[in-house]
Amino acid sequence: MNNADGAELAAYYAKRAGTYEQVYDKPERQADLAVMKERVREALRDHQVLEIACGTGYWTEQLAQSAASVLATDINQEMIDVAKAKNLPADKVRFALADAFDLQTSDAFSACFAGFWWSHVKKQDQSAFLQQLRAKLGKDTYLVLIDNVYVEGSSTSIARTDLDGNTHQIRTLADGTRHEVVKNFPTDSALRKKMATTVKDIRILRLEHYWMLTGRLK
Ligand SMILES: C[S@@+](CC[C@H](N)C(=O)[O-])C[C@H]1O[C@@H](n2cnc3c(N)ncnc32)[C@H](O)[C@@H]1O
Repeated sequence: MNNADGAELAAYYAKRAGTYEQVYDKPERQADLAVMKERVREALRDHQVLEIACGTGYWTEQLAQSAASVLATDINQEMIDVAKAKNLPADKVRFALADAFDLQTSDAFSACFAGFWWSHVKKQDQSAFLQQLRAKLGKDTYLVLIDNVYVEGSSTSIARTDLDGNTHQIRTLADGTRHEVVKNFPTDSALRKKMATTVKDIRILRLEHYWMLTGRLK
């Protein structure tokens, strides 16, 4: 990934750590959110999970209810501090700082989960991200991704589309600073096409506000 863009995305989320979970309060998303939580818990039941870009641990809390173990990682200590304050069961959940594009773990995992991360990976970086997962986690590792569907009136509007086809939003934080972030909203066929060489057994669930993709690394 372009380092400047990646650093800007990370810095934006570091500043947003304390207020991040407000995004889960949107009333129109509650019904879908309940379905997604149940699906995520079921999908990762009994797995040894590597969670990428865990943020405040909103989904780690769900994983902790059904997975065998979770290593929840994020690039920002500010996010991990919020997640740790949830006091999730220490015998199941560990946290570590990690760059999603440069994973350094030697542990064994049966599954990889990432919530609301894929949408921030630029189209030109997506294949490298998947290939790295395959190289570091191994063939047949179960992959579970969840992310947003664009919904007019609920989603932040798209400010521009770049030459590579990535869509960008302008986000304003409580301190008044404005941040342009990549936020892609792929169709099912775009997801399948992008993953065709690295992921098999792809299944996609699409609700009004969220999608969930499961598959196995080839
Ligand atoms: C949209 S939030 C998702 C947080 C959490 N997974 C959730 O669904 O609530 C994106 C997360 O990506 C993290 N992040 C940004 N760049 C990263 C990178 N290069 N490697 C790992 N995490 C990164 C941010 O700190 C932030 O926590």
